[in-house]
Amino acid sequence: MQQFGIIGLSVMGKNLALNVRNNGFSVSGFSIDKPEVDAFAKYEDDKLKPTYSWEEFVDSLEKPRKILIQIAAGKPVDETLQKLLPLLDKGDILLDGGNSNFHDTNRRYHEMEQHGIHFIGMGVSGGEEGALNGPALMPGGDEDAYKKVAPILEAIAAKNSEGHPCVSFIGPEGSGHYVKMVHNGIEYGIMQEFSEVYDILRKVAGKTNDEMSAIFAHWNEGLVKAYLSEITAEVLKQKDNLTPDHVIDHILNVASYKGTGNWMLEDGVHLGAPISVIAEAVISRFMSKATTREGKEIKWNGEVPQDLIDNLGKALQLCQAVAYAQGFQQLKMAADAYNWDLRYPAIAQSWEAGCIIRSSMLKDIEKAFAEGKKLDNMFQDPYFKDLMDKNIPALRNVIVLATKAGIPTPTLSASLNYLESIFNPSLPANLIQGQRDYFGAHTYFRNDRDGVYHTEWYEEK
Ligand code: 6PG
Repeated sequence: MQQFGIIGLSVMGKNLALNVRNNGFSVSGFSIDKPEVDAFAKYEDDKLKPTYSWEEFVDSLEKPRKILIQIAAGKPVDETLQKLLPLLDKGDILLDGGNSNFHDTNRRYHEMEQHGIHFIGMGVSGGEEGALNGPALMPGGDEDAYKKVAPILEAIAAKNSEGHPCVSFIGPEGSGHYVKMVHNGIEYGIMQEFSEVYDILRKVAGKTNDEMSAIFAHWNEGLVKAYLSEITAEVLKQKDNLTPDHVIDHILNVASYKGTGNWMLEDGVHLGAPISVIAEAVISRFMSKATTREGKEIKWNGEVPQDLIDNLGKALQLCQAVAYAQGFQQLKMAADAYNWDLRYPAIAQSWEAGCIIRSSMLKDIEKAFAEGKKLDNMFQDPYFKDLMDKNIPALRNVIVLATKAGIPTPTLSASLNYLESIFNPSLPANLIQGQRDYFGAHTYFRNDRDGVYHTEWYEEK
C-alpha cells in the first residue's frame, strides 16, 4: 500500500511525486491524461507507482488515504472531487495544491466536511524546481488531518537557514490558499519594484544589461538578498538564441498574469486594506497592455548623481519591506474578518526558503512578529522603523530623479506614500469628511469630543 497519492502528473505533480519518493515515502500517481501517466511510469520503482484508473489509484493507497490534487485551479478541482467522493472512506484526507481561490477552498472544505472527508487547501510555491527539491507549503484546513500528513509535507518542504521545514499549519478553511494569494500579491509588488529600478538603471544611469546584471547580483550579496534579485541578474545577462543581443531586449513588454495577485487586491478592497503597492503592481500589468506606446523614448541628459546606484539599492530594500508589510497588514485584517487564528512568525518562516518571495528579510519579519509581540504595522518594529528612517532619503531621491526624467514609478512611489502615511497624525481626511457632510449630510466624528456631528453648512434658499 502506498503512503501518498498525487492526482495530476504535469510537471508540478510529477516533481512533487518524485520529491515524496526521494524522501523515502511511497507514492502513487494518477492523471486523466494517459500520456502523463505513461511519462510518469518511466520513474516506476518499489516506491513510485503509476496508476491508470480512479479505482486503481484509490485502492493503491493506505488508509486514511492522503491524496494531493495538483491540477489547474477552478472547475477541474470540483470535477475531481466528484469523481473521488464515491471511492473514498470517512477520514480520508484530500489536499488541493493548486492556486485555488480561497472562496472555493472555503466552500470545498465545508462540502467535504459533510462527507467526513478532510480537505486541506495548500499553497505551493517555488515552481518546478521547488516542487522537486523543496517547495514552500501553506496548508490550511483541519489541524488534526494536517498532523497526519505533516511528516510527509515536512520532509518534502524546503528548509530554512536553520534547517526548519518551510511548512506549518496555517489555519482553518481556505486560509492556506489565502496566504498563498497574499504571497503572490507580494510577488507581483516586488517584481514591479524590480522592474521600475531596472528602468531607472537603464534610462537614467545608462547601464548596459551586463552592468545591471552585476548590480542586481551585488545587491543579492547584501542589501536585497532575495531569490528575485538572483533571477533578475540571470535574466539580464542571458544572451538571445535568435539574435546577437541579450534576450531581455527582445521580450515583449506586456506582463501576463493568471490573477492570484488580482485576487489579493479584490479581497483587500473588500477588507479596506491599504495595499497600495500591490494595487499599483496589478494595475501596472494592466497598463503594460493598455499603453498606446505612442511616446518618445526617454533620454536623460541631466546629471547622474554619484550615489544613484547606492540609493537605488536602498530604495529597493525599503520598498521590498513595504510589500511584505502590506501583505502582513492584509493577513491581519483577514484573520479578524474571517475569524482565523493566523500565526505570523510561522507564515514568515514558511516563506524563508523554497518560495518565489524568499529573502533574508523574512528572518527579520519572523522576529518582528515573534509570538507575543503586538504590531498593527510591521514598521512599528524597531528593526523596520530603523530601516525606514535610514533608507527613506534614498527612496525620496530616486523618486525625485525618476519624476524629473519622466519615468513612471507606480510601486516605488506607492511605497513612499505608504511610509509617509503610516506614522502621520494629521492625514487630510478631515476635509473629505467636511465635503461629505456638506453635500450629503453624511455626518462626521470630531477629534475633541464624542458623538456624531453634522454642520448646517449653508442656509436653505
Ligand atoms: C509560486 C508562483 C506560482 C506562479 C504564479 C505566477 O509561488 O511558485 O507564484 O504560483 O508562478 O502563479 O503568477 P502569474 O501568472 O499571475 O504572474
